[in-house]
Amino acid sequence: LGGSPSAELAKTHNVSEVFALADGTKARLAGWVASKSEVGGVLFLQLRDGTGFLQLVARKPGKAYEEALSASKEEAVVAEGVVRSDPRAPGGKELLLTSLEVVARADAWPITPSIVKSPKAYFDLRHLTIRGRKAQALAKVRAELFRLAFEFFSSRGFTYITAPLIVQAAVEGGATLFKLDYFGREAYLSQSAQFYEEAAICSLEKVFVIQPAFRAEKSRTPKHLTEFWMIEAEMAFADQEDNMRLQEEFVSYLAGKIKESCARQLETLGRDFTPPRPPFPRLTYDSARELAAEKGFGFPWGEDITTEAERSLSSSFDVPFFITDYPLSARSFYHMTRPDRPDVTLSADLMAPEGYGEIATGGQRIHDYETLKRRIEALDLPASSFQWYLELRRYGMPPHSGFGIGVERLLRWICGIRNIRYVTLFPRTPARVYP
Ligand code: 4AD
Ligand code: MG
Repeated sequence: LGGSPSAELAKTHNVSEVFALADGTKARLAGWVASKSEVGGVLFLQLRDGTGFLQLVARKPGKAYEEALSASKEEAVVAEGVVRSDPRAPGGKELLLTSLEVVARADAWPITPSIVKSPKAYFDLRHLTIRGRKAQALAKVRAELFRLAFEFFSSRGFTYITAPLIVQAAVEGGATLFKLDYFGREAYLSQSAQFYEEAAICSLEKVFVIQPAFRAEKSRTPKHLTEFWMIEAEMAFADQEDNMRLQEEFVSYLAGKIKESCARQLETLGRDFTPPRPPFPRLTYDSARELAAEKGFGFPWGEDITTEAERSLSSSFDVPFFITDYPLSARSFYHMTRPDRPDVTLSADLMAPEGYGEIATGGQRIHDYETLKRRIEALDLPASSFQWYLELRRYGMPPHSGFGIGVERLLRWICGIRNIRYVTLFPRTPARVYP
């Protein structure tokens, strides 16, 4: 049906627009009562709409005061009043109410400070707690990040593609696959769109994907979700150097733009950072391993960098950095190895600083048919599910490389949020599929 809302709901402004209005301007807004307090006969309501928060003021006595008094937390309201400046008001402006109409009543609001302090209770009520100031700010930064990612890749000649989420092959190992019954056959939820991107580059040359990825990782950590969003890019005729340059530019672009366009949200989150600039520091896996050992977080050569070592390494940087030259034994089968060191791959992890750790993994892929075939056989992988992926190498597959970056991992760092659950509206973890 659409069309304009009924006359009673029509508003003249959004909250964010009010801050630019001259004193004395009449405004009509619609939103929710985020909080209410009374100081010396003056009622203060914080009104929330989809664009932010605004202070509403009503003075005793009068109709507006009575109406405002009767409105409770989280009721939906239409507020009319006059804009005025007050340095004590958040943002420097407030609305002196002339009327406040309740459009939808609310029961007593169940979100108490003790609920906010208990993650379990907080996320059990996530359908309501997403109304909080920080939750709103995070959702806004997240939306901006997606917009910027499309902008960045599109402006550089990458074509946006989508790939199936129901798949037969494990891109990143069998251990974290979500199995599903696909009409009697075994299928999985996609861990990464990479293989489909590799097929697509021979048609489109440079592609990117923004879509969910799934990992059945039982580990309950501040950086793992079972369902998350990944931004992936893949380029034909590109080596690992080109790949790392692209990542540096992408991350610098995102951080720089978000710092400008989401200044208000970052302030709400209490986050400040200096956007990085390329080139990012690089250290090899070997030297990262030595550095970690010096700090007391040693691990055997050939294994993945442990969580503790990763945190410690990341804490010693204040800009993002690459760890390059991972051992083949710590990488998925498709990685190309160095010509001078066959036990080491042309791959890198991009690490966020300040203890946040890995945000992206990328590398150059094996483009030679025989080499990939031998790799699949040596690792005794299920050849049938990789058949089409291998076959690509028989039909003009050039050197190519790409990466995948986790949206929630990026947000965690950019917004300064320690636990990844907060940067998505409805997180999925081993313990949580509700709400
Ligand atoms: O490092 P990963 O496993 O690499 C890949 O999937 C490659 N196939 C990507 C590519 O080259 N196209 O995952 C990529 C990124 C990680 O660096 C991390 O940011 C994020 O995805 N990620 C997760 N984020 C949240 N929860 C999880 N369980 C994640 N697993 C990976
Ligand atoms: Mg990785």
